[in-house]
Amino acid sequence: MTIENETDLQGILRIGQICGAALQHMLAHVQPGMTTAALDAIGAAFLKEQGARSAPILAYRFPGWTCISINEEAAHGIPGERVIRPGDVVNVDVSAELEGYWADTAATVIVPPADPEDERLCAFTRRALEKGIDAARAGRPMNAIGRAVENVARRGGYRIIPELPGHGVGRHIHEKPSVYNFYHKRDRTRIEEGMVFTIEPFLSRGSGRIVTESDGWTLTTVDRSICAQYEHTIVISGGKPILATAV
Ligand code: CO
Ligand code: CO
Repeated sequence: MTIENETDLQGILRIGQICGAALQHMLAHVQPGMTTAALDAIGAAFLKEQGARSAPILAYRFPGWTCISINEEAAHGIPGERVIRPGDVVNVDVSAELEGYWADTAATVIVPPADPEDERLCAFTRRALEKGIDAARAGRPMNAIGRAVENVARRGGYRIIPELPGHGVGRHIHEKPSVYNFYHKRDRTRIEEGMVFTIEPFLSRGSGRIVTESDGWTLTTVDRSICAQYEHTIVISGGKPILATAV
C-alpha cells in the first residue's frame, strides 16, 4: 500500500510494532526440547492479547499462527510436533492484521551450540537486509534493493533463493510490487514516498533451490542446505525508511 494520511501511518506502525514485539517474544522463548507448536502457541497468545489476527490464517488458512522453519526448511514451516534441538537454525516469521492494516517480520536464531558456518550465514543475511534497507530511498529504482542484497550474498559466497522476494504489504499480507533479492534487469518499479513493503533476503549455504513439501506449505532446500532470512516491513519516507516492525 501507499500511506495516504496519518491514520494509515499510525495503523501500519501499530501492527508493525505488535508483529515486531511478538517476534522478539517468540525468539526469547526458543528452547531445545520444545516443539514448534509450543513456540507458535506463545506467539498466538501474544498476538491475541494485542487484538491482532494471524495473517497466514486470515489470508491463506495456513495451519498455524506463525511460520516456523528449521534448518533445511526455508519458509512456511507448519508449527507442529517437530522438536527444536541444539544447533538448530530456527526461522520465525510473524505477520498479522489489526484494524485492516497488515505487517510482516521475521528473523533467524541458532540454538546453542551454533555451527560457526551457520553464524556466518546469519550475519551475512542480516547485513543483506541492512544494505537492502539502505538502498530503499524515494526516487531510486526498486532493483537497487535487489542489487544491494545480491552484492552482500555474493561477497559471502551464498546463493539467494530467487522465488522468495519481499512484497508490498499494508492492506493485505502480499501486495504488489515484488521486492526481488537480486538485480532484476527488467524491473522498472520506482520507489516512492509512502510505499509500504517488506525486504526479506533468503540466503542459502547451498544451491538456493527449493521445493514444496508434501504438506503443501513447507518450502525446503533441495540439497537440504541451511538457509537464513530476516525481514522488516518498511515505510518509504523523505530520508531513511521507517522500520515499522523494528522494536
Ligand atoms: Co514474513
Ligand atoms: Co514477507
